[in-house]
Amino acid sequence: MNKEAIILIGFMGTGKSTVGRIAAKRLGVPFVDADRQIEREQGMTIPDIFREKGEAAFRAMETETLKRLLAGGRRVIATGGGAVLAEENRAAMKAGGTVVALKASPQTIIRRVKGDGSRPLLAGNVADNVLRLYEQRKTAYDFADLIIDTDALTAAEAAERIVEYLAKENRKR
Ligand code: S3P
Repeated sequence: MNKEAIILIGFMGTGKSTVGRIAAKRLGVPFVDADRQIEREQGMTIPDIFREKGEAAFRAMETETLKRLLAGGRRVIATGGGAVLAEENRAAMKAGGTVVALKASPQTIIRRVKGDGSRPLLAGNVADNVLRLYEQRKTAYDFADLIIDTDALTAAEAAERIVEYLAKENRKR
């Protein structure tokens, strides 16, 4: 692996896909969303995969897909919020490129994900589930090379931070 990828990590609802798509456009590289890739390949939605095959099966698909995408050259990759939980995935991300964490407060996240039924781990009481998982994963995204607090930023502004960071890193080389 050549450390070519730009990998977006972060809790559900932190804007990984939206920001990633804009950053990719600005950088002139492809954008790929790991969860959408899994859904395409499985011909099933994430909630259906969780329901019919279970979370462990989804996590195995996530690791396999992530590694494949990381080996695919320069591109922006948006990962699922739980992709950072496996050490194997974290190591692959670090080896595969620049890891960018998007952060947001639980209040911002709850506002963004409320009413969206596409996240099985939040099904039921969304606010309670966000708060519980947020607490569990408090430090899970801290291994990133760059951490962006998105609460007061538009998606375009967050994407710009990524572009600026990469330009700065490039000048150091
Ligand atoms: C998950 C996040 C989801 C998706 C799956 C599990 C998680 O992705 O991978 O529902 O464990 O945080 P998003 O972060 O894109 O919602």
